[in-house]
Amino acid sequence: MSLGHPDDVEAFRRLVLERSGLILSAEKDYLLKSRLEPIARAEGLADVAAMLRQVRLAPGARLAQRCIDGMATHESFFFRDATPFDQLRETILPQLLAARAQTKTLRIWSAACSSGQEPYSLAMLLMEERARFADWKIEILATDFSQPILERARTAAYSEFEVRRGLSDQRQARWLVRDGEMFRIAPEVRNMVQFRNHNLLDGMATLGRFDLILCRNVLIYFDPATKAKTLDGIAACLNSDASLILGSAETVVGLAGAFEPTPGLRGVFRVKEGQRAAA
Ligand SMILES: C[S@@+](CC[C@H](N)C(=O)[O-])C[C@H]1O[C@@H](n2cnc3c(N)ncnc32)[C@H](O)[C@@H]1O
Repeated sequence: MSLGHPDDVEAFRRLVLERSGLILSAEKDYLLKSRLEPIARAEGLADVAAMLRQVRLAPGARLAQRCIDGMATHESFFFRDATPFDQLRETILPQLLAARAQTKTLRIWSAACSSGQEPYSLAMLLMEERARFADWKIEILATDFSQPILERARTAAYSEFEVRRGLSDQRQARWLVRDGEMFRIAPEVRNMVQFRNHNLLDGMATLGRFDLILCRNVLIYFDPATKAKTLDGIAACLNSDASLILGSAETVVGLAGAFEPTPGLRGVFRVKEGQRAAA
């Protein structure tokens, strides 16, 4: 089946790139088809071709946004890749606790948080270490550009499959409450996370400064220019001794001059000395 008129398809590819940074090369036509067909059906449209025609005619309309959202990969799971969370508990958090002993505040940003497993994993880990900073003010900001996925994250309800994917029995018993067929994150963990709609292509200055940023498994979908611009924006949001954690398949090497790897820590980066002003 053809996806539609080549001009409509091309216009959609451009729109997705402009609004989300995601590259949809021609080899990804299978992805376009498999993700757009259910949306066309749900919208009561004849087929994807008819839908892409409408999107081209009204790129600012709700349908266009729904199709753009539909192209993003929302795959996520609790304590994904384990290593970043082990490094956080063993090295990064103790360093931050020592460095912020005076102000007793910690701001963490989970950028491109998808359905919430990443920020809730952070909150669980912090709750488990709570005794070390009982009277601290800790803020976890979790953002994504997809409104539907944020709504899902806010419900904090996960299926048994999602829960088993990353949460040990011990964590399940401690941090989940059964709710019919689903499992809900315990209120004390849920309340630590604030969700907000934010597109990484937009300005970041309004988000403030952070002591730790996790931006994992989203840059891989961006072209090099968008990756570099996003990393520059992130560099400007980090406090001087703060860290950026990327996904296991991502790196800043060759992309953003502002960052350098942190020796001994996998996937953890710091803003280079002397680059802060530039960022
Ligand atoms: C694969 S998920 C990663 C979730 C989580 N960080 C993790 O590693 O498990 C990628 C997320 O990036 C979001 N995303 C894609 N482009 C974005 C953009 N330009 N701004 C903000 N979020 C974006 C998608 O909506 C999706 O939820």
